[in-house]
Amino acid sequence: MKILGIDIGGSALKGAPVDATTGQLLAERFRVETPKLPTPSKMAAAAAKIARHFDWHGPVGIGFPGVIHGRVIMTSANLDKAFVGCDGVELFSAATGCPVTLTNDAAAAALAEMRLGAGRGFSGKTLLLTLGTGVGSALAYQDVVIPCEFGHLPLKGDSAEKRVAASIKDREDLSWKKWGGRLDKYIRTLETMIWPELIIIGGGVSADHAKFFRYIKTRAKLVPAEFFNEAGIVGAALSAERRLG
Ligand code: BGC
Repeated sequence: MKILGIDIGGSALKGAPVDATTGQLLAERFRVETPKLPTPSKMAAAAAKIARHFDWHGPVGIGFPGVIHGRVIMTSANLDKAFVGCDGVELFSAATGCPVTLTNDAAAAALAEMRLGAGRGFSGKTLLLTLGTGVGSALAYQDVVIPCEFGHLPLKGDSAEKRVAASIKDREDLSWKKWGGRLDKYIRTLETMIWPELIIIGGGVSADHAKFFRYIKTRAKLVPAEFFNEAGIVGAALSAERRLG
């Protein structure tokens, strides 16, 4: 099945048609900058631009950076608050003119990594973290992927993602060592509660893993995502296929 995967993020929306059996992108991915005011209508128009770019009329799988309950977007930490309570399936299918399924962006990335990337063939307890504008998280165990919100673990009076997201490294101009040290504390706190066997780190910054993994001392095996920036696109398509297929 061919599905248009769209990954909605705080800095860009990225999409490409995906072969949902192999996870291969069927065309070069297309990127649209996240609008300055990321309101539901502007974001829906940006998603529609991606569908138009590929002249797409088939199923669309979308990964969204917030909690999703059924069709409804429950949280929107890094996009406009007007998303909260909004029927995301209705919003994006009306804009693209295509049938849409919606999932959390990190859960989408976890699905792609477990099926085809760094976690393939492994069915033990796995924690996936995506480090980007925010911190996405999901747990995987024996073919089940569960979206989580560990980025909002309270830390120094705020969400942990306000200290450890990749965007914070840039904003505060932190060295790899300083940022790696923050990540070390954060991930080791998660470890005491979750005891994963494997930890996969995704997000664009995972391409630079050699620069900061040395500061993170985990019990679990720590590996970079294999899809880097494409896990969200591929996983959104895989998640749609699971539900439509
Ligand atoms: C959101 C999560 C999302 C993560 C990464 C967090 O702020 O609450 O749902 O997965 O950012 O985009």
